[in-house]
Amino acid sequence: VKDALVLFMPSGRRGRFPLGTPVLEAARQLGVYVESVCGGRGICGRCQVSVTEGVFAKHKITSAATHLSPFSDTEARYKAKRGLPEDRRLSCSALIEGDLVIDIPIEAQTNRALVRKRAEARPIPRDPVMQLCYVEVDEPDMEQPLGDADRLVRALEAQWGFVGARCEFRLLPLVQGLLRQGDWKVTVAVHTEGIPTIVSIWPGFHDRLYGIAVDIGSTTIACHLSDMLTGRTVSSTGTANPQIRFGEDLMSRVSYLMMNPDGLPALTTAVRGAIEGLIDKAVNDAGASRDDVLDAVFVGNPIMHHLFLGIDPRELGGAPFALAVSGALTFPAREIGLGVNPGARVYMLPCIAGHVGADAAGAALAEGPQKGKEVTLLVDVGTNAEIVLGNRHRILAASSPTGPAFEGAEISSGQRAAPGAIERVRIDPETLEPKIRVIGLEAWSDEEEFAEKIDQVGVTGICGSGIIEVIGEMFLAGIITQDGVIDGSLAAKSPRIEANGRTFSYLLWRGDQEIRITQNDVRAIQLAKAALYAGVKLLMDRYGCTHVDRIKLAGAFGAHIDTKYAMLIGLIPDCDLKHVSAVGNAAGTGARMCLLNRGHRAEVEDLVTRIEKIETALEPRFQEHFVAAMALPNKIDPFPNLAR
Ligand code: FES
Repeated sequence: VKDALVLFMPSGRRGRFPLGTPVLEAARQLGVYVESVCGGRGICGRCQVSVTEGVFAKHKITSAATHLSPFSDTEARYKAKRGLPEDRRLSCSALIEGDLVIDIPIEAQTNRALVRKRAEARPIPRDPVMQLCYVEVDEPDMEQPLGDADRLVRALEAQWGFVGARCEFRLLPLVQGLLRQGDWKVTVAVHTEGIPTIVSIWPGFHDRLYGIAVDIGSTTIACHLSDMLTGRTVSSTGTANPQIRFGEDLMSRVSYLMMNPDGLPALTTAVRGAIEGLIDKAVNDAGASRDDVLDAVFVGNPIMHHLFLGIDPRELGGAPFALAVSGALTFPAREIGLGVNPGARVYMLPCIAGHVGADAAGAALAEGPQKGKEVTLLVDVGTNAEIVLGNRHRILAASSPTGPAFEGAEISSGQRAAPGAIERVRIDPETLEPKIRVIGLEAWSDEEEFAEKIDQVGVTGICGSGIIEVIGEMFLAGIITQDGVIDGSLAAKSPRIEANGRTFSYLLWRGDQEIRITQNDVRAIQLAKAALYAGVKLLMDRYGCTHVDRIKLAGAFGAHIDTKYAMLIGLIPDCDLKHVSAVGNAAGTGARMCLLNRGHRAEVEDLVTRIEKIETALEPRFQEHFVAAMALPNKIDPFPNLAR
């Protein structure tokens, strides 16, 4: 036998290789990503694999550890120095000597303690565009007039197979010192997209490489720091978007700029400053250094995208909603003054349209409605709901101006989801007495029980998911009619129904802070949910379907909402509840995917060109759908799944 069959798991890629081929080489040839910083010198230990032993009839392959060359001196040295688990081999050293099933271990399991949500805990296969390469460079001599930087580039090409590499201009004044400091051995970071470019140099061996993925929301900004050599999310942090002081929602920030044309730098500085703070925190939490952050991926809605880049978003304030730039962007992080390694690169996901941003593109990448047969509805609920609908045959997107009601703004007792906020509500249909659950206090309570626990947490308001529930429960208990009117005749039955001028309100809570659901609150939720539903219906009309197979609710709000109540008030169309799920911060997951794997960048760029963009504001039927959707759950559309 001159060659052997090698199967790599979990990717399932396979191929035949001449005996004596290093496993790492075989992986490379099949496009299986195995990390290697030292280029097969047995220094970094990043290339570890293990052999799955047994007979794999399906693949006609018998795999055994003995089908690898015996433990080499290099491996023994590495093991003695840094330790190597019993079943592991260094794939740069282990040679193929027979048929093999090779397991690439997923060190990449996300740190679940830090990142709880399902979407954020997903392991992502790695194939990053930024790569660390350890290089041994020839010393200069009189016969060889090549410059030190040129010899470094040559060595990189020869030892790592890059063709036509170059060294960033900025590094030229540093090259000589660093090469000598490292005794002609250096580690370089190479940006491998397009022309392979050395963007950073460390003397000697260096094996720390981090990347950040940031979701710039209009209300909150979330930042994840990933160890690029393992794929692990090592820390996650978030903060309120300080642009809120220029306007609560997107359009008010655009109006601010219309009234203050010189205000752009202030908005840009505010968001960049918040991101700097998050990077600081993320890096400190993980015990990392800013200088080791070499890649950064950003998502955001079109207006956040523009403001972050320092681009005036006023064109996005009205039709035809022209973006200054819609395609994906890659540029040096120093162009926007990001305080990370000066050679770091930024990647911004593409925007779908003037009102459907890179965040929706990221969410679609993460949740993949465009991949399956089922018609899937993906909704990212924020001040602007971004809606993606379709399947692998056809995919459409739109946004709907829901306003900030779901985030607790415009609601008399509304607040952001934080300890003290009511998040769950049940109302007894006979007595109209409520029970609530408050963030920070796990148990259900009525007012009496709650009095005992009040020291632990006070009730401060009601958050978005609580509002959806209380409206749903009020509807179920007959307190509000199908048209959303609080029924004043119930005042005779319960003191909780209170006259309030010409309308009525429901007294939900009587602690030291009284919490009422007023007629205006119900109206605000009706308007928001009708806008969202009308947008969804428009997409369904365009797609030509009357029913969806699956619904995914993304975003912070979507993650906490009880899907049954979302359907009960007609926020989302009818669907089997088993197929309705909250997927967490899907846009952030999309950003992490693009950070860790270049393939996902190509995928999202291609996806965005395939998405049909629908402008809801210009569709005559929007108003019609909106009016029907003001009713609970809807004036026209049936909800058979609610009856079950
Ligand atoms: Fe570095 Fe194998 S590639 S030890």
